[in-house]
Amino acid sequence: MARRILSRPRAAWRAALALSGIALAGLAGCGVSETGNSDRGRQLFVQKCGTCHVLKQAATTGTQGPDLDAAFAQARASGMDSDTIAGVVKAQVDNPRPTTDDPNVSMPPHLVTGGDLDDVATYVSKVAGVPGIQPPAFAGGPGGQVFGENGCGSCHTLKTAGSTGTVGPDLDTALAEQSAAEIKQSITDPNAKVTPGYPTGVMPATFGQTIDPKDLNTLIKFLQQSAGSQGK
Ligand code: HEC
Ligand code: HEC
Repeated sequence: MARRILSRPRAAWRAALALSGIALAGLAGCGVSETGNSDRGRQLFVQKCGTCHVLKQAATTGTQGPDLDAAFAQARASGMDSDTIAGVVKAQVDNPRPTTDDPNVSMPPHLVTGGDLDDVATYVSKVAGVPGIQPPAFAGGPGGQVFGENGCGSCHTLKTAGSTGTVGPDLDTALAEQSAAEIKQSITDPNAKVTPGYPTGVMPATFGQTIDPKDLNTLIKFLQQSAGSQGK
């Protein structure tokens, strides 16, 4: 199952990266020390890295690559600062250092680039290997926690979750009349039926793989129960 991620055609990676091209335009000449946006970095990490890496603060559980808390705990304890950790992360993403000769267990290069890479590196450098770190607590109970941990709130407004994102539709309005099956399809296959007036390819198409089935059901139930309920 996890291996399949690695054998995905290059075109899929390239399509996933096409989005970040927009953000790159104005960034030529940015220094390595430039500090990225850690909240956005968290969201990108969950989508692009969490399938292969454990990182407690991101609540990700991938096992294909090393546990990044374990990888940086020692370095942090022996005095490595966040800037240096960010540099290590950037170097690894730009030019993954293989640990074996088996191409099935290596990290694909350039999963994120430019400003996106700054954001991911800044985020990882702040949280990886910090003793006792936990994911933040999100409003709305167990379903709200799944919603928050997966970064849904950065793009969607949902009153029960306390989120105000505007990149995607306001879910209080959009989901008021929808069945569990319709909501599930929107989450796991966002391009199957695109909401009129919104762009395709912006909502990550990977939630069907990255959210475990139990959490996905909790999330769908939560969305059904909370959509619109605070406005009525
Ligand atoms: C398809 C699985 C996969 C994905 C996705 C992935 N990695 Fe990796 N990563 C690995 C593997 C495997 C290694 C071990 C080194 C190698 O063989 O390339 C690794 C190693 C690393 C290391 C070095 C850890 C150490 O012990 O030195 C860092 C840092 C890292 N990855 C960060 C990231 C970040 C940041 C992302 C997202 C942009 C990411 N990885 C996405 C599989 C992955
Ligand atoms: C990067 C921004 C982004 C993130 C993150 C995101 N979405 Fe979306 N979402 C969108 C956009 C844009 C649309 C409208 C286009 C489409 O339908 O694909 C959308 C559409 C939807 C719809 C369909 C709404 C309708 O009108 O029927 C649902 C449901 C949804 N998202 C739920 C979620 C959930 C749950 C998460 C977290 C697991 C999430 N989204 C994460 C951007 C995002």
